[in-house]
Amino acid sequence: MVGPTWKGLYGHEVELEDGTTVIADEAYLIESIKDPGAKIVKGFPAGAMPPYGAILTDEDIIDIVAYIRSLAGE
Ligand code: HEM
Repeated sequence: MVGPTWKGLYGHEVELEDGTTVIADEAYLIESIKDPGAKIVKGFPAGAMPPYGAILTDEDIIDIVAYIRSLAGE
């Protein structure tokens, strides 16, 4: 897979390249979609994911976050 899986992502801890961790809540997912370079997931290349802030509307992004949330069974 090119990017990290969305399965079980929502609400769980994500290890970042800089050694810190973050909980994948709505704010983190929205940021990761709009500005993927802000927090790089450990083991994945920086700059691989294009920023979607200018491509998707805020409504699109909220829908995708709801979908990612549904994959975690929440
Ligand atoms: C609508 C399209 C996309 C959405 C909604 C999306 C969403 C996300 C999210 C939420 C993360 C953080 C995941 C985590 O914390 O485990 C992520 C990371 C990542 N995505 Fe995407 N992605 C999209 C398209 C793409 C595409 C087209 C690529 C590559 C061609 C890509 C490559 C990556 C990579 C390499 C990461 C990990 C590095 C980083 O944190 O920037 N994504 N993506």
